Amino acid sequence: MRQPPSEETTDRLRVRNLLGAQAGESLAVDVRRGLTAEPKRLFPKYFYDALGSQLFDAICLLPEYYLTRAENEIFASHAREIVEAAAAAGSKVTLFELGSGSATKTRLIVEALLERQSSLLYVPVDISTEALEQGSLALLQSFLPLRVEAFASDYNSAIPRLAEHFEEGSRAFVLFLGSNIGNFDPAGARDLLLSLRRVLRAGDALLVGADLKKEPAALDAAYDDPLGVTAAFNLNLLGRINRELGGDFDLRAFRHVGRYDEREGRVEMYVESRRAQTVRIAALDLEVNFAEGERVHTEYSHKYDLEELSGLAARTGFRLARTWFDEGRRFSSNLLVAEDK
Ligand code: AVI
Repeated sequence: MRQPPSEETTDRLRVRNLLGAQAGESLAVDVRRGLTAEPKRLFPKYFYDALGSQLFDAICLLPEYYLTRAENEIFASHAREIVEAAAAAGSKVTLFELGSGSATKTRLIVEALLERQSSLLYVPVDISTEALEQGSLALLQSFLPLRVEAFASDYNSAIPRLAEHFEEGSRAFVLFLGSNIGNFDPAGARDLLLSLRRVLRAGDALLVGADLKKEPAALDAAYDDPLGVTAAFNLNLLGRINRELGGDFDLRAFRHVGRYDEREGRVEMYVESRRAQTVRIAALDLEVNFAEGERVHTEYSHKYDLEELSGLAARTGFRLARTWFDEGRRFSSNLLVAEDK
């Protein structure tokens, strides 16, 4: 059973909530816009309420969803090398993470850093306050010399605030793991890296976990698993609209679609209406009509090759310094170093 956190542990944790009062409001605005648009869409950042975050953790345990295991394998074999390459010239490191979630993989990086410095400041950013707190507490319980300054936030609001935690003489090392970059389209990925480059100093490092292009069958299985966990994760978006906005979506009247489009190099996820139907959303005073077979787009998961990754780095003020792979070469961990401006 989970132990309640000790006072000593919580003393080393500060969580700043940048989601604020607008969080509920922006869900309402985005749902209205997305469900009245043609074609209909919902943003993937809304997957991660408390239930959605746990469903995502369950996805990471699925045999078909190889991404988490592959990245873990890379860290289990190469965490020390990665940390040495990021720190360069023996300097101390402050660790940042965008989309930390339950921070399970971060553990291996924290461990490697604490082998080379006596204390560590970790600054995770995540949209799910529950995942952020639980992930941070689990790390604090394991590592006494660790301090956590967390941001419950989307990336855009948090990135300009990261500099508040830059320490004189320390390198910033930013983790952007788990193929999170894949959930941005190419322009969005470029803008995110550009906004990170604007706050980082030359020599600071960014570790980007990117899933690699591969045969479609492996990707189809990873995003449409036979146990139906990914389907539950996807349909939970509609469940969230029911819970938070008074919607009356019948979840059984929609089905999950998750397919790799090889030409586009991305997995596309949708919820598809099984029949013609009308859904009411009380808080929005909105009725939405769905035709039989109509799809609501919920997520892209872009897959990369090395050329695309080094091109992305070069266009955003970074240099792709080194890439590590898992044994099966399914996944990549890419160390980008901020270049002089
Ligand atoms: C969080 N993100 C990197 C996952 C992915 O693989 O794109 C989200 C996910 N969607 C379906 N399965 C997992």
